[in-house]
Amino acid sequence: MKPSGPDTGRDGPLASGALDADEALDATLRPRTFGEFVGQERVVGNVRLYIAAARERKEVLDHALFSGPPGLGKTTLATLLARDLGVNLRTTSGPALERPRDLVGLLTDLGEGDVLFIDEIHRIPRAVEEYLYTAMEQYRLHIVIDQGPDARSVEIALKPFTLVGATTREGLLSAPFRSRFGILEKLEPYSVEELTRILARSAKVLSVGADEGALRAVAARSRGTPRVANRFLRRIRDVAQVERRERIDAASVREGMRRLGVSEDGLDATDVRVLEALVRAGGVPVGLKTIAAAIGEEEGTVEEVYEPFLLREGYLLRTARGRLPTLRAFERLGVAAPASTGQPGLFPPEAR
Ligand SMILES: Nc1ncnc2c1ncn2[C@@H]1O[C@H](COP(=O)(O)OP(=O)(O)O)[C@@H](O)[C@H]1O
Ligand SMILES: [Mg+2]
Repeated sequence: MKPSGPDTGRDGPLASGALDADEALDATLRPRTFGEFVGQERVVGNVRLYIAAARERKEVLDHALFSGPPGLGKTTLATLLARDLGVNLRTTSGPALERPRDLVGLLTDLGEGDVLFIDEIHRIPRAVEEYLYTAMEQYRLHIVIDQGPDARSVEIALKPFTLVGATTREGLLSAPFRSRFGILEKLEPYSVEELTRILARSAKVLSVGADEGALRAVAARSRGTPRVANRFLRRIRDVAQVERRERIDAASVREGMRRLGVSEDGLDATDVRVLEALVRAGGVPVGLKTIAAAIGEEEGTVEEVYEPFLLREGYLLRTARGRLPTLRAFERLGVAAPASTGQPGLFPPEAR
């Protein structure tokens, strides 16, 4: 089995191969009600309140933007939101909207109050984005048809709708676009307790028995991410099944994690390569480009997937000049930290 790492959202070797199967798994394990949606209390509380208020006023819900790293539940939230509103959900993604005309069919198909969900909304081409502005604000679409002397602009009236966007890179959204969303919610990584609860539900859905301690061990290595936790669970279920174990226990988790290339402390092979690239520089800040090249991933993937985890775990520091390894990173690799550690960056953050 090929070692596999955390989910990267869409592209990159980490998501390849198993992508289709994992997408299907995502759909099976996706919570069907807000009640099944674990954690993110603040976000869920806000969203449910806005939904209730809009329903009471018989108004269309304001446009909403969900941001946060891959696998934290943005798509799930959009689905639950539409279900709670009792409206239809149309789904597309930023990269699929190549030309302004790609919007026409989507938008004119929407019924009153329906939700248009645009995943990876930061990847909408600027030219398309501008057409969305009037659609969002005035429920109108100005579109130019034909070319040359026959070109004319037509205006299409739309039914009031709610645009729900999801993005892993909120910073890449232009200010005018961002300001058109009335609801802006950020999803945060999940605690081990929350992930354990998510895994317990997933194990039930997958009809596999599991010890609480075993699930907790999986949760602890899941980088605060439900999608990663669920993926690990599925691989570990395979191990338990092949070894004819009745339930997922500590031994199946150990074996599964070994096969997945995930170590005791939750670091996988790519994390280690990131740390190696930092440590190799001997305490000099390393740029994102260099790290990306060292692990053969895109810079965006390093920023969205690897860095946040390594930052949280106290292995890496972001500085204006680049990334620095902490003392913990040197220790993890069994490399002596350079003696000239006058830089504060080489000390592990407090409160570990
Ligand atoms: N709060 C949650 N409670 C339970 N399961 C969740 C939660 N958030 C995400 N998941 C699970 O994680 C998977 C990925 O969630 P998804 O909504 O696709 O993430 P995103 O769109 O942010 O990448 C889904 O299959 C879902 O089962
Ligand atoms: Mg998604």
